[in-house]
Amino acid sequence: MALLEVRDLGVSFETLDGTVNAVNGVDFALEAGRSLAVVGESGSGKSQIMLAVMGLLARNGTASGSVRFDGTELLGLDEGAFNRIRASEIAMVFQDPMTALNPYMRISDQMTEVLTLHRGMGVREALDEAVRLLDAMEVPDARTRIRMYPHEFSGGMRQRVLIAMALLCRPRLLIADEPTTALDVTVQSQIVRLLTGLRSDLGTAIVLVTHDVGVVVGSCDEMVVLYGGRVMESGPVESVFAAPLHPYTRGLLDAVPTIDRDDERLPAIPGDPLSASLVPAGCPFAPRCPRAEDRCRDERPEIETLAPGRLAACHLPLGGGR
Ligand SMILES: Nc1ncnc2c1ncn2[C@@H]1O[C@H](COP(=O)(O)OP(=O)(O)O)[C@@H](O)[C@H]1O
Ligand code: SF4
Ligand SMILES: [Mg+2]
Repeated sequence: MALLEVRDLGVSFETLDGTVNAVNGVDFALEAGRSLAVVGESGSGKSQIMLAVMGLLARNGTASGSVRFDGTELLGLDEGAFNRIRASEIAMVFQDPMTALNPYMRISDQMTEVLTLHRGMGVREALDEAVRLLDAMEVPDARTRIRMYPHEFSGGMRQRVLIAMALLCRPRLLIADEPTTALDVTVQSQIVRLLTGLRSDLGTAIVLVTHDVGVVVGSCDEMVVLYGGRVMESGPVESVFAAPLHPYTRGLLDAVPTIDRDDERLPAIPGDPLSASLVPAGCPFAPRCPRAEDRCRDERPEIETLAPGRLAACHLPLGGGR
């Protein structure tokens, strides 16, 4: 059984302009201790999927379908049971660590408070555990620096502290939503490496949400590519990178800087991302797709298995390599 199993997930919002379908028929699964990247341009529905999983959608939002965590259906779960799962089994890290840390409390107090309250530890034991987690996140000289306040850390160090805090309750699943977007490229790759290293060190499964497909390679096991709130392609990271099946995936990969194209301007995919308030009859990517034909505009491609473990929603999938 998968640790997290998302089936036919939909998220819609009621707005003054009508219903906005932000997420449509999304399927994916994550095994215990594995890592999954959820990739797509801004507005593709990544965050709303994760908020639906965590039961934290905005009040005008509704989720449909199924989200199973270790066999328990989370959609429609009562608030008390959800709180227990959020406090101990699933943790989430966001882009801006400053909003999640208390600026007036030392890191040591913020971390040990969680451990004494939720795991019933004594203060000394809690401090040791907090230092151990900061060490695991490679915060240098953790035993001294744990006495510092959040503003005394650099952005990259603060993000490490926040991940260490998310791990205090030993969650079985950590959802990191654009955890490195505000950081520079070198720091980004260090943090992603630390994050995905957790699955071997602590056995924590990771969902890494990012608009930057470049941070995914070499760090995650599987990936899901989203466009307009739908899954365009999914499969093992290595094989998707080696030979993308969907023209949108290829567009994202072509925009990743490589060593031989170092200083060149990156080719972004031309055209604008799909607005979530429009429901296209055909393929959502058709207005921007270089391969689009009449059929693409009239008939929406279903997601299908095209090779073992490789799924794509496209009438004219790519063959061969990039
Ligand atoms: N409370 C809301 N009411 C209406 N639409 C919303 C609300 N929250 C998010 N959306 C819409 O959902 C879509 C997906 O948003 P999001 O999941 O945040 O994208 P991503 O994380 O991929 O950048 C966007 O078009 C956004 O405008
Ligand atoms: S279905 Fe057609 S428009 Fe959509 S991605 Fe495939 S080729 Fe492009
Ligand atoms: Mg987002």
